[in-house]
Amino acid sequence: MAKIFVTRLIPDAGLKLLREAGHEVVVSEKDGVLTKAELISQLQAGNYDAVPCLLTDKIDAEVLAAVPQAKIFANYAVGIDNVDLAAAKAKNVLISNTPGVLTDAVAEHAFTLLLAVAKRVAEADRYTRAGKYQGWAPLLLLGTELAGKTLGVVGLGRIGSRLAHFAARGFEMKVVYYDVARNEEFEKNYNAKYESEVEAVLKQADYISIHVPLLDSTRHLINADRLKLMKPTAVLVNTSRGPVIDEAALVEALKSGTIRGAGLDVYEHEPALAPELATLDNVILTPHTASATEETRQAMSRLAAENILAALGGQTPPNLVK
Ligand code: GLV
Ligand code: GLV
Repeated sequence: MAKIFVTRLIPDAGLKLLREAGHEVVVSEKDGVLTKAELISQLQAGNYDAVPCLLTDKIDAEVLAAVPQAKIFANYAVGIDNVDLAAAKAKNVLISNTPGVLTDAVAEHAFTLLLAVAKRVAEADRYTRAGKYQGWAPLLLLGTELAGKTLGVVGLGRIGSRLAHFAARGFEMKVVYYDVARNEEFEKNYNAKYESEVEAVLKQADYISIHVPLLDSTRHLINADRLKLMKPTAVLVNTSRGPVIDEAALVEALKSGTIRGAGLDVYEHEPALAPELATLDNVILTPHTASATEETRQAMSRLAAENILAALGGQTPPNLVK
């Protein structure tokens, strides 16, 4: 029997799997993110063998040192920028993530943001609720269409390619993409155009969606200069990681009309928002809920548990992050 510490309550599918396998599962009782000091003291107190952790937990050398016997930290997320992979490697701790099971949820959310910005849904809702609707009017809240326009995908992983599929097949959009790796089969399937420089995508696209992991090379990938390359009618959507966009520069671009609008699920300093962001009508904001569907959050829980069970059994976790 192993002891497993869950840093915050997650949907129960995976916790059931772990308990059914005979392991002791301890869930943090705090209703919120553990501070680093709290996390360290909880881990030290329990002699744990495995830890499902969240993207809100910063897993660094000090945290890892608090559980010297732990075999695995199973990140309940696909992004792993919250984990110091080099420190984990040095301490021989396995790290896993939850890819694949959230692809549809996140791609659907990104598409929702694209549509919601184009159709000014949140603004229209606020307007209507505020009692401002006085009857149909020819110039009221004009939006834009997606059909026939160009979608720029920055980062053609699972989520980026799924979004491109919706756009090309469902909305007959043209697709142009940037990635560090070219995917010629994808290009053939979707009649998509590859650009080896992100700037070229930003210049051509009417709608731009970001799907890169947060790395040193992608931090502020979208900055003031690159925002200026976009069309004044462009809509930018980010469901990846906040720091990929210079959020203060984005606020300026939205205020000055450098681009038309934005849809954001992630923030540079979340949960804080850049000053003035929430005062702008041409941006739609969701609270890092792109993967928050019943189906996906349970599947992520199962996947985290399966990775832990593999590691505890001396096998390679199916979603080992190298
Ligand atoms: C969510 O942001 C994830 O990385 O799974
Ligand atoms: C995440 O799963 C991605 O590859 O986009």
